[in-house]
Amino acid sequence: MRQAGRYLPEYRELRQRVDFLTLCKTPDLAAEVTLQPIRRFGFDAAILFSDILIPVEAIGCPLNFDPGPRLATPIRSRAQVDALSAAPMEEVVPYVGQALALLRRELAGKVPVIGFCGAPFTLAAYMVEGEGRQGFGEVKKMMFREPATLTHLLEKLADGMADYLNFQIRSGAQALQIFDSWAGILSQADYRAFALPAVQRLVGRLDRGDAPLIYFAPAAGHTLADAAATGADVLGVCWRTPMDQARAITGGSVALQGNLDPHVLFASPDVVREKAGAVLDAAGPAPGHIMNLGHGILPETPIASVEALVETVAARAADSVKDRA
Ligand code: CP3
Repeated sequence: MRQAGRYLPEYRELRQRVDFLTLCKTPDLAAEVTLQPIRRFGFDAAILFSDILIPVEAIGCPLNFDPGPRLATPIRSRAQVDALSAAPMEEVVPYVGQALALLRRELAGKVPVIGFCGAPFTLAAYMVEGEGRQGFGEVKKMMFREPATLTHLLEKLADGMADYLNFQIRSGAQALQIFDSWAGILSQADYRAFALPAVQRLVGRLDRGDAPLIYFAPAAGHTLADAAATGADVLGVCWRTPMDQARAITGGSVALQGNLDPHVLFASPDVVREKAGAVLDAAGPAPGHIMNLGHGILPETPIASVEALVETVAARAADSVKDRA
């Protein structure tokens, strides 16, 4: 999950001097920002500091962040889809590989580094809309008016993102996460017809050895059973679906990650401990649960709450090791 960013004073300090895209494209700065939450909290894994839209820019969609992504020209036609570049990611975003290589050296086996990409449908939602907007009406209009154009775009993105994740693995990523942040706007039937096959195509082209793969589609409880067929080892669960229900739906076929509501961190440390405990209880004692937030950490989150969360999880993990001994 997103764990770096504006809630950290050391990030805000750096951002006063450097804009977001420059941070993403400068390997030593991207590596530094990735490490900030690891140093402060001792999380069990680091996630590369970048953005799901970085490779989209590199294949021919200029954009800026303010703070969400805004594309210079939305993709609305077959000709625009055809014009997107299929150049190797190694050539168009070399700085991502350099940041991962630096991170592997800095982390020196202490914690693994996670690489990531956006899922084809979620990237298409931004590309067709031109910016983040509730509902993403434009991509759905394309889906109903010109389904073949959308499918063509999704296939192109699936192949591009497979190349991108394979490049991240070659550069040092030890686990991968695919963010399908907007899949939840689709009906179950449209998820099956458009978003799911595109993720399966991406996953089928990965050359990841034994690196685990996480797939996360928030606000998409109605897609959870199908998501177990993406080929991912782990499904991220947002806070809306109780962990025990997610276990029942997926029937133990995948591990689960989640799912504390990030807004809980705005309450007192006592409430954080209680709510985190409830997530751990709902996930149950069986192995295959990665404790995490149920979506990215929010700006202005109090540091003390993150500390209370980490302490709660560490204490539980120590207890369960004792129980098993
Ligand atoms: O630890 C980390 O923070 C990892 C880096 C990371 C970012 N974005 C940094 C970022 C990751 C993994 C992402 C993924 C991402 N980006 C997703 C999928 C996850 C999710 O939240 O659903 C999505 C949908 C995006 C697109 C995006 N980028 C949005 C909607 C925004 C605005 C967010 C906001 O809070 O205002 C961004 C910008 C962005 N990406 C920021 C960060 C730290 C804020 C930029 C800033 O410093 O001004």
